[in-house]
Amino acid sequence: MKNLVLVGFMGSGKTEAGKLAAARLKMTFVDMDEVIERRHGQTISMIFEAKGETFFRLQERALVRELADRQDRVIATGGGVVLNPNNLRDFSRTGIVICCWVDAKMAHERTKNTKHRPLLGDQTDRLMRIETLLAERQHLYKAIPNRIDTSVMGVEQQTDEILRIYKQQAGL
Ligand code: S3P
Repeated sequence: MKNLVLVGFMGSGKTEAGKLAAARLKMTFVDMDEVIERRHGQTISMIFEAKGETFFRLQERALVRELADRQDRVIATGGGVVLNPNNLRDFSRTGIVICCWVDAKMAHERTKNTKHRPLLGDQTDRLMRIETLLAERQHLYKAIPNRIDTSVMGVEQQTDEILRIYKQQAGL
C-alpha cells in the first residue's frame, strides 16, 4: 500500500489523526519527530538548542528519504517538512501527500498549552509568532493539491476526510 503522508503546520492534528487513520487502515504509524528524538536520545527542543535548526532539517531530510523508500506507513511529518521541496517530491513518489491546513487562531488554540515546539518559543507573543510563521509558509501548504481545512473540524472528521482522499487516490 502507498504511504499516507500528512503535512501541515504545527497544531494541524497530523499526529492525532494520523494515529487514527493508521489504525483504520491497519498500517504502521510513524511520527517523524518521534523517530528523530529516539535516534538522537534528545527532544526536538534539545536538538534545536544544542545543534541548531539546520542540523535538525538535515536529520529530517535524511528521514524523508528513508521513509519514501518504504511502503505501508502512515507518516506524520513535522510542520517544516515543506521548507525543502525535495521532501514533498520524494514522498509523492511512493505515497499520497495530504495537507492538513489550520488557521493561525486554531493553531494557537491547539498549541498554547504545549512546550515542546522550539519555533514557538515561550508563551509570550505566541499568536504573533504563529501568524508570522504561517504567513511565511502558507504558499507551500496551499500548493499541495490534497488539502483539508482542519480549523473547522474535530479529529474524527479530519480522519474521515483523510481516509476518503487516501482511498480514492490509492484506488481502494
Ligand atoms: C516544526 C514543527 C514541529 C517539529 C519542529 C519544527 C516546524 O513538528 O518538527 O519543532 O518547523 O513547523 P509538529 O508540526 O509536529 O509540531
